Amino acid sequence: MNTRELPVVPDRRTVESAVALACRAPSLHNSQPWRWVMGTTLRLYSDPDRLLPATDGFGRQMVISCGAALNHLEYAFTANRWRPVIERLPRSSDRQLLSTVGFVPAPTPTDFVARMAAAIERRRTERLPLDAPSAWTETLEQLVRIIAGTGVELEDLGERSRPALEDASRRMTGLRHDDPTYQAELRWWSGRGLFPDGVPEQARPSDSQQHSVHLSREFPPGRASTPDGSPSEDRAAILLLSTSTDSRLDWLRSGEALSAVLLACTDRRLATCPVTHLTERAATRTMLRELSSGDGMPQVLIRVGAGTGVGEPSPTPRRPLSEVLVRERPAPGNLSGE
Ligand SMILES: Cc1cc2nc3c(=O)[nH]c(=O)nc-3n(C[C@H](O)[C@H](O)[C@H](O)COP(=O)(O)O)c2cc1C
Repeated sequence: MNTRELPVVPDRRTVESAVALACRAPSLHNSQPWRWVMGTTLRLYSDPDRLLPATDGFGRQMVISCGAALNHLEYAFTANRWRPVIERLPRSSDRQLLSTVGFVPAPTPTDFVARMAAAIERRRTERLPLDAPSAWTETLEQLVRIIAGTGVELEDLGERSRPALEDASRRMTGLRHDDPTYQAELRWWSGRGLFPDGVPEQARPSDSQQHSVHLSREFPPGRASTPDGSPSEDRAAILLLSTSTDSRLDWLRSGEALSAVLLACTDRRLATCPVTHLTERAATRTMLRELSSGDGMPQVLIRVGAGTGVGEPSPTPRRPLSEVLVRERPAPGNLSGE
């Protein structure tokens, strides 16, 4: 290959720092079910060894988590003057391949992109009660604008839906108490103090605060608790992301939309928590569909509100880059690799 025809790729350090930021994305139980391979393009694969079969048998949330990482990656590169050219679900015999990412040099990022990228390291999942978000109408308009064109619908379910959602959440929690496989999986992903994955105890509500948020997945008690004077009752807005169908592309796109919503809220100093237990059973998913004004397939609920900021949880751990990013060896005679 003539050197002039070589594909343009960012240097190693740029790739590594963008992938490290992408891996700050939220994932189901912090399972981090992704793998990246850097060759002439960067490829994103889901990692079936990190599927949670009792919670997410079809791998829907595994793909949503990867979609969130893909969107984080997009902001990380764009903020660093590379425009990623994303192909979703390219033809491949490997079902785990979710995306290839090519690169085009880009101009200085807009203020919006720089702020979204800066929000990556500040974002956390907040499971304690939140106050109602301020400037909500304006925020909601921005969130709808940000995900326009992705095929993912965003709706504020409003206060009118809270009693039904909280009631369904309580019933779902009760049902799951009788599901030993689900409980074993939850414990496995919640008690991994020495591992760089799972939901650590500082991110899980303490025993006394376990049930202060009624619309929440129940985790084994942890150490997170609200400081004095902070809201004791949850007044978070409740958003629903849904898609017209329920394909793998819809899941990937839902993850991308989830990421963009979380980052935009973080940029606005709002606290967020994805909530998905009600999407994991057909009956509760149907209920979500009925609460929605649309007819889409519910993918993720998101609580958004004002946190106190005091006692903010420290970042949850991530696996080392060496475990998730591989550099492909160039084929003999191919000069484009390293
Ligand atoms: C697809 C998906 C589903 C999730 N479901 C829940 C949930 O039901 N309840 C919850 O508290 N957090 C949920 N989360 C948040 C993860 O637990 C969280 O992202 C992970 O523990 C990493 O922590 P961080 O977001 O603070 O970085 C979900 C995240 C994703 C991407």
